[in-house]
Amino acid sequence: MEVAATVEEMRALRRRFEGSVGLVPTLGFLHEGHLSLVRAARQRDDRVVVSCFVNPTQFGPGEDYERYPHDPERDLSLLRPEGVDAVFLPAKEEIYRDGDATFVEVAGMDDLLEGAHRPGHLRGVATVVAKLLHIVQPHRAYFGQKDAQQLVVVRRMVRDLHLDVEIVARPTVREPDGLAMSSRNVYLSPQEREAALVLSKALRQAEQRFAGGERDGERLRTAMRELIGQEPLAQLDYVSVADVETLQELELVEGAALASLAVRIGRTRLIDNVILQS
Ligand code: PAF
Repeated sequence: MEVAATVEEMRALRRRFEGSVGLVPTLGFLHEGHLSLVRAARQRDDRVVVSCFVNPTQFGPGEDYERYPHDPERDLSLLRPEGVDAVFLPAKEEIYRDGDATFVEVAGMDDLLEGAHRPGHLRGVATVVAKLLHIVQPHRAYFGQKDAQQLVVVRRMVRDLHLDVEIVARPTVREPDGLAMSSRNVYLSPQEREAALVLSKALRQAEQRFAGGERDGERLRTAMRELIGQEPLAQLDYVSVADVETLQELELVEGAALASLAVRIGRTRLIDNVILQS
């Protein structure tokens, strides 16, 4: 496994790779969710590149950029047994240079879900993913379904900019008790870790109601809101039952819907979602 710290080093490695290349972009501090993306890439692509980069532009003021968990040695030791070919571990200055004036923004997303609650977040994600796709030039890039709006934004950017890459979405990986894996779970105290189960419980309840025939978007949202409201440590940012592509809230679920939520447990903001589909 080779490690590239600069854009030039990454490009030099890439030029040597024959066959198809899969990229798994991450913020680092890897968990089983990331490793499941790596394994999916390993199955489909001849070469696998993982990027670990805590991207400053996707964190808003007052968010956790400064304290985001960071342990490159740990990441490398998790990636080595997975048959990864290259890890791209750039410093901030490699990706964002003085005088950078170009950003990528997918219009129409800023007043929805994460876009509405984290100003600038999606622009930061689209910009860094565009940069990584240009640097690594993969045939496929792998993303987790947990960041559902990020996936919508990345797919839209790839389509609109005619980028020659296939975006592959993989299911959310969960702890045995249902909590969606996230690097931010390390922030949770034992009591908060317990309280955090309210996210997956609310989504499971939405799935059950949907399976029982409920198709009214507002009733599904209200039931999730009420369940979150019963957890004293939880503070709700949003619940949503939305169209899977436009992310507009649905009055009536006719085909599939994305049920998603963002909840603060103490100082930790967690997101999760499920697809409701008959
Ligand atoms: O999902 C993430 O880990 C990040 O948002 C990504 C896609 C690596 C961009 O920084």
